Amino acid sequence: MEWNPPFARWFVGGKLNASYICVDVHMRSWRRNKVALYWEGEPGDSRTLSYAELYREVNRYASILKKLGVGKGDRVALYLPMIPELPIFMLACARIGAPHTVVFSGFSTGALADRVNDVEAKIVVTADGGYRRGKILPLKKTVDEALKTVKSVEKVIVVKRTGAEVHMEEGRDLWLHDLLREAENYVRPEPVDSTDPLYILYTSGTTGKPKGIVHSTGGYLVFNHSMYQWVFNIKEDSVYWCTADVGWVTGHSSIVYAPLSHGASIVVYEGAPDYPAPDRWWSIIEKYRVTIFYTSPTAVRMFMRYGEQWIEKHDLSSLQVLGSVGEPINPEAWLWYFEKIGRGRCPIVDTWWQTETGGIMISPAPGVGLVPLKPGSVTYPLPGIDADVVDEEGRPCKPGVRGYLVIRRPWPGMLMTIYGNPERYKKTYWSRYPGLYFAGDYAMKDEEGYFWLLGRADEVLKIAGHRIGTAEIESAVVEHPAVVEAAVIGKPDPVKGETILVFAILKEGYEASPKLASEIKNHIRKVIGPVATPEAIYFVRSLPKTRSGKIMRRVIKAVALNTPIGDLSTLEDEASVEDVRKAYEEFRKAMEGK
Ligand code: PRX
Repeated sequence: MEWNPPFARWFVGGKLNASYICVDVHMRSWRRNKVALYWEGEPGDSRTLSYAELYREVNRYASILKKLGVGKGDRVALYLPMIPELPIFMLACARIGAPHTVVFSGFSTGALADRVNDVEAKIVVTADGGYRRGKILPLKKTVDEALKTVKSVEKVIVVKRTGAEVHMEEGRDLWLHDLLREAENYVRPEPVDSTDPLYILYTSGTTGKPKGIVHSTGGYLVFNHSMYQWVFNIKEDSVYWCTADVGWVTGHSSIVYAPLSHGASIVVYEGAPDYPAPDRWWSIIEKYRVTIFYTSPTAVRMFMRYGEQWIEKHDLSSLQVLGSVGEPINPEAWLWYFEKIGRGRCPIVDTWWQTETGGIMISPAPGVGLVPLKPGSVTYPLPGIDADVVDEEGRPCKPGVRGYLVIRRPWPGMLMTIYGNPERYKKTYWSRYPGLYFAGDYAMKDEEGYFWLLGRADEVLKIAGHRIGTAEIESAVVEHPAVVEAAVIGKPDPVKGETILVFAILKEGYEASPKLASEIKNHIRKVIGPVATPEAIYFVRSLPKTRSGKIMRRVIKAVALNTPIGDLSTLEDEASVEDVRKAYEEFRKAMEGK
């Protein structure tokens, strides 16, 4: 490691290629003819690719990209549903040394345009749609809208998934199946430096502009390969199913790079978890004999509500390890997961990590030795991870005391920087405590040194495990012509972990009404996507602010949740607190009256 604080470079001078490691290496072994990918579409269609077939496809797709002029270092944006073409394109990009930026297909026009613009992608890959709850997501339409504000994109490759009619822009848009007719069966994998970026993935922070997290090739792969062996005990005969969308970091590591580097079989499912019935997931586990299952606490809580009858119908005896990620799992959900899904036989690995960490950092590790589990605790940091919990001054907290989670030393999966913004990288992660990586999470260690994660310590929300910054939602809200200013807070939710509440000040001449509230909701869905749909919008005349003009979200939150408001000495105008309270109560009464 070359450590130039706060920039770390791993395996400097090493050359490799990620698609070679995930695909080509298996061509020389029995794995050539085993299943690499089981894919199940929402309508019930399916596709299976052996490693040899995956190899062929990755090469063909790589040749297409090359012919379109994509070279080493060029960025390619992938805006696709959960179909085999998504991992294939990721590996094809890796093969030619072009970093990919996957944009979650649940994001909408504004979110997509921001990311494509920031990364200056040359190519966007999308589809004529994807299935979600029986409906078709109009991805191509969203791309067409988004590209109106993007200059860098030269070509759009369109995958035919649904057969829905889409507009094809002459000279810009190309069907994948047309391009494949001219594709070549072999493209030499481009040797890249260990420290060349494998991908850039955007995540929300505390400003409206998402951060492009840059991951290296060598460090990222070594780290993930190791962690999946230790945490999941993954083997070449594992059938690994991570239910996350590839659009999040969990999907990058857990669907594509780690399991394929181990030569395991992955399961990819396109649609909604409970469609057409609440046993869709359990039927998939039974059908493909899934051995390792990795999901989110929100999903577990949702299935708890549906009841056990949906699970009992299915043979889940193939399961060996169960994983949880993305948000704290409450002990009740943990125990239910352990007993009902794992039938008391499978360890639960509650894995703490982030887009920035690239891979799992704190988790039980049955692959190297299982410690006694405590429901709700992520147990201990993994080998090589020097994690701690510190107070405001950076001193280690005593057992049982809540503090901030920090990492004391770099690790191979650590982000390299924020794309195009090294200053923001330094400021966000390394300025709070010089020399320590600041994760932005509250945590606590108990008497035995077990770590307990206690939620975000910044303005980042976790909605059903999806990470969305309050600032990103606020900037979408104020784009609406009726709104001057807005504040967003998260409200605890028994299933999703958190839901979104918006407090908005209207412009002169606009009347607060349920119609306007639903208009603003639709606007947010259009700009960011359905994940950011608020539970409610409250219209207020003012917002509590500090004298320097910063919105005090914690005050709004305290009012809305009816918890103690705390220190108000920096508040500029006390009337605003009453205003928020009044708006909130009026709305609640109106709802109760219905
Ligand atoms: O707050 C923590 C929470 O998810 C955040 C990272 O979100 P993202 O970058 O989207 O990556 C999610 C999946 C890797 C963290 O800062 N988080 C993640 N895993 C856990 C968790 N909170 C509690 N327990 C976990 N196991």
